[in-house]
Amino acid sequence: MTTPHGLAPEDILRLGEGEVVMLDQTRLPGEVVHVHLRTWRQVAEAIRDMVVRGAPAIGIAGAMGVALAAATARRDHPARVRDEVRDAVAGLRTARPTAVNLAWAVDALGRLAAAHPGPDDALVADLAAAARAVHADEVGRCRRMGAHARVLLGRGPRILTHCNAGALATGGYGTALGVVRAAHAADPGVRVVVDETRPLLQGSRLTAWELEQEGIPYTLIADNMAATMMAQGRVSHVVVGADRIAANGDVVNKIGTYGVAVLAREHGIPFIVAAPTSTLDLDMPSGADVPVEERAAEEVRGLDLFGRPAAPDGAPVANPAFDRTPARLVAAIVTEQGVHRPPYERSLRAAWDAAIAEAAAPG
Ligand code: MRU
Repeated sequence: MTTPHGLAPEDILRLGEGEVVMLDQTRLPGEVVHVHLRTWRQVAEAIRDMVVRGAPAIGIAGAMGVALAAATARRDHPARVRDEVRDAVAGLRTARPTAVNLAWAVDALGRLAAAHPGPDDALVADLAAAARAVHADEVGRCRRMGAHARVLLGRGPRILTHCNAGALATGGYGTALGVVRAAHAADPGVRVVVDETRPLLQGSRLTAWELEQEGIPYTLIADNMAATMMAQGRVSHVVVGADRIAANGDVVNKIGTYGVAVLAREHGIPFIVAAPTSTLDLDMPSGADVPVEERAAEEVRGLDLFGRPAAPDGAPVANPAFDRTPARLVAAIVTEQGVHRPPYERSLRAAWDAAIAEAAAPG
């Protein structure tokens, strides 16, 4: 299976023999380079350092890390396979705190291992199969979301998106960019406005790159231009992804998303969230309780402009990586189960139950 620009899911992330291979997202758009990770600790580090990022993608990477832990322990320390898997689950699930997909995927493999009767060779094989299934399932969910969301957009939409919720963030196809992709396949009149997304520029580095590969027309803007674009009628819809969606429909996503949602409300523009059920956290009553990662000050003050630092050395900095958009600002949430409208509580619960039933169904 390939994405239209030829970047197959396994080009973004794959579990190989004794390694996890991933496209290094810190080096895009300038260089397309893969890193080969040979221990689960290296996988955890790659998640922390954002070599791989985006909620579903870090879940997939985490699952692959657990499978890798079992395979390497089987080869190097056969008596320690199960201990190593337990250590990997504990170390990987907390590599980043906000996106629930990471703990969701790692815990699923942890449960599989805990209940596995053995022998260890079978455990290693079953964990590898489960990690690859997490990957295939996430890409499948993205494709289904894209098909559902098309009805929300009408003809010739001008879609503003924030951060990167594309193939890179999901291991293939994308959530918000999956919606864009599906819309564009049916309607070449689709246009995209890409927020650059400070401080780490996932919009300009990654989303613009993906759209370029696909030949989907876009305009890149600095984050503080979104209000003017909306006031000038150059945005008809906002579509973003999510790192965690609470039971009440609050959406936790890349810092700056909340501001975009407030602007969209002011301008009467629908604010739409596309996320798979693996991003739902129905144990969280509201987004207020979701842990928000605080990242290094250097990410904010380290920008160079005119060949010079853009902030005084040591300037005090706040760097929350995510924010909470209250459910009242969200016009629709699209999961692979369909389009959900406010109030979200029951509809998200039904989507979750349907996803569980699907996973349990034979075949
Ligand atoms: O810090 P990042 O780059 O991992 O943050 C990613 C986002 O906030 C995305 O919008 C979110 O994970 C949705 S990706 C399908």
